[in-house]
Order: sequence, then C-alpha cells, then structure tokens
Amino acid sequence: MFFQSARTLRKLGLCISAVGLLSLSTPALSQSSANSINQMALAATCANCHGTNGVGVPNAGMPQINQLSSEAMLTQLKAFKSGARTGTIMHQLSKGYTDEQLQTISNILGKK
Ligand code: HEC
Repeated sequence: MFFQSARTLRKLGLCISAVGLLSLSTPALSQSSANSINQMALAATCANCHGTNGVGVPNAGMPQINQLSSEAMLTQLKAFKSGARTGTIMHQLSKGYTDEQLQTISNILGKK
C-alpha cells in the first residue's frame, strides 16, 4: 500500500514536472520555429503511408517519394488533385490540401 502510493506520488511528480517544462518552453518558441514545426507537421501527415521522410514502405504498395525533386512531387500532387492522375487514394487525399500546403510539403519531402 505504502509502496503503491509512493509510486503514484512519484508519477504525479513526473507529470507535474513535465507540464512545468512544457509551460517553460512554449513561450520560448519563436514565431519562425513555430512555423517550421507546423510545416514539418504537415509533411508528417504523409509518413503514415510513405514512411518517415518519404522513404516508402517496400512490398506494401507504398511508393518511395523522397527520390522525386520537389518540383516533380508537386506536379504529381497537383495531377492527383485535378484528377489528371488517378490512384487508389492520392486523388482523394490531395484534395484535402491547399496548393500552398502541397508546395510546402513538396519543398520539405522532395529530394534536396
Ligand atoms: C493513406 C496512405 C497515403 C497517404 C497518407 C499518402 N499517400 Fe501518397 N500514395 C499512396 C499510394 C497508395 C500511392 C500510389 C497511388 C495511389 O494508388 O493513389 C501514392 C502515391 C504518391 C505519389 C506518387 C509517387 C510516384 O512515384 O509517382 C506521391 C508524389 C505521393 N503519393 C505523395 C504523398 C504526399 C506528399 C502525401 C502527404 C500529403 C501522401 N502522399 C500521403 C498512399 C498515401
């Protein structure tokens, strides 16, 4: 009983210090790093299927996309969005992003 509550207290302490750290670090975020976090988060929406940074998932039908230049990636995404290119899922997904968001994502994930 004592050990259990001591453990609970310790967990609570960890939670409180984690919250403390968060509230300390949030105001320290500059506007530009907040923007780049938003942009990274946007590009991360592709990782579920295409793997981290677009490496692809071999043998699972999820193409590697990070070998495409940013320009080539954007061309494909716009083709999906306009309906010029069909697919199983990308023609639907791409419609959920503005052209500006697709540009941002292509800049991040495209081959450097
Ligand atoms: C639900 C899974 C899924 C997600 C999420 C997803 N894709 Fe795809 N993607 C696919 C599949 C599957 C294909 C093959 C074409 C098709 O069937 O739609 C594809 C094809 C592509 C292609 C064409 C590749 C080539 O070789 O021509 C590009 C570019 C691409 N995706 C980019 C993205 C980007 C950028 C995102 C994030 C905004 C994204 N995908 C999110 C599943 C996904």
